[in-house]
Amino acid sequence: MSFDLVFFGGTGDLTWRKLMPALFQAFRHGKLPPGGRILAVARDDQSDQRYRDWLKERFREVDGAKRPTEEEFEQFAQLVHYRRMDLSQPEHYAGLKTWLEERNADTVVLYLATSPHLFTQICEQLGAAGLNHDRIRVVLEKPLGHDLASAQAINQVVRKVFAEKQAFRIDHYLGKPSVQNLMALRFGNALFEPLWRRESIANIQITLAERLGVGTRGGFYDGTGALRDMIQNHALQLLTMIAMEPPSSNDADAIRDEKLKVLRSLKPFTAESVTRDVVRGQYRAGNVEGAAVPGYLEEVKVPEGSQCETFVALRTEVDNWRWAGVPFYLRTGKRLAERDAQIVVNFRDVPHKIFPGTYHPNRLVIKLQPEDGLELQLMAHKGTGQGEQLTPVSLDLDFDKAFATNRVGAYERLLLDAIAGRLNLFVRSDEQEQAWRWVEPILAAWAADTSGPRPYAAGSWGPAAASALVARDGFSWVEES
Ligand code: BG6
Repeated sequence: MSFDLVFFGGTGDLTWRKLMPALFQAFRHGKLPPGGRILAVARDDQSDQRYRDWLKERFREVDGAKRPTEEEFEQFAQLVHYRRMDLSQPEHYAGLKTWLEERNADTVVLYLATSPHLFTQICEQLGAAGLNHDRIRVVLEKPLGHDLASAQAINQVVRKVFAEKQAFRIDHYLGKPSVQNLMALRFGNALFEPLWRRESIANIQITLAERLGVGTRGGFYDGTGALRDMIQNHALQLLTMIAMEPPSSNDADAIRDEKLKVLRSLKPFTAESVTRDVVRGQYRAGNVEGAAVPGYLEEVKVPEGSQCETFVALRTEVDNWRWAGVPFYLRTGKRLAERDAQIVVNFRDVPHKIFPGTYHPNRLVIKLQPEDGLELQLMAHKGTGQGEQLTPVSLDLDFDKAFATNRVGAYERLLLDAIAGRLNLFVRSDEQEQAWRWVEPILAAWAADTSGPRPYAAGSWGPAAASALVARDGFSWVEES
């Protein structure tokens, strides 16, 4: 199957940091279908060779084992081409069309790795140039809009130009192997399903913690904040995969229908429940891994006195038969104590205790980062003699060790899926709009509340109010328990 893959925003950060390295991995692992061309388009006027040289330099910044050797790069570079395009000029789209028609590849993937404010313009121009026929797929990077209205505006144009099955909305968390394994865990095993409900589960915690600060992205980040950057998309997508009913098949729409139902069942926020159930924070100077780091307000391009949140913790519920009353705690932040992305399923305590000492209720931890694994915490006897108390012990599964070779990273997986036309791991427009609908009351309540985010020290686990949020229900975040 021949393909052409076009990156709009071909000289941008996303392209050289994530997309090209992911494609290179696919190429190295022999997973890229043969007969493909990769085209970067951007404003600069340069030749294929100059772009390849530039890319080679950028690749030097890629992590050790993922960096190509000289020889590998030369082979990969043969697939890479460059075209200058002014995205406002219809004739430049006509030129692109001619370039694509030289090959008439089986599949053409147009990846919009540009700033989202260009999405509608690009889609309209693609439509006008006839670059929307059914061999074409369009990939849209997040953020798709900054609220419900702007997301709807983008989706409206996308829908006018492309059929829904041609639109691949990326949430790179869905490409992470551990998120795939969440589906496998739930729907490839009979073990957990009977327990996967309010009768057995006390609460669920989703943590997406980063050690890094905003770095040089302060300008972009300040207009976004943690709620839009991580909760509206990544955290909610994980929540849907934990909470959804078993889909009737592994088809994209069967899965997405179930995810949408979860989003629709989320308890809606009111101004009052935002005050009670949502904590926003902003990091101050502190220490991360022994090094002093500046506060958010001291980062480059962050406006003075900014009230942008770099941390959010919230409590919600899924109002349906399976989950009624079970708290779902979501938490994300920059400059936290650890880089740690995980979903913790805390089971209920035993109903009657026959052993001495403290019991720790069972816990299933689905680890996304830094390791990709599963941990099941149980109570056991050490076997040291009479009167012994139970001790918590873990069954630990490290997927990288279990499945040693060539595991596919998130962007690699999603790019290969887009080329193959598999939509399962992409977000449908109605899911995305529903997620915006749900976060909007939080945005509105914050806009009306000038007290701003609560400060927390870089290197901590966020404001104390985040612990209080969980403690109120008699629980604690996993690292505090
Ligand atoms: C991106 C956010 O979507 O996800 C970034 O815009 C964040 O702010 C990143 O750092 C985290 O992704 P990962 O895969 O490193 O956890």
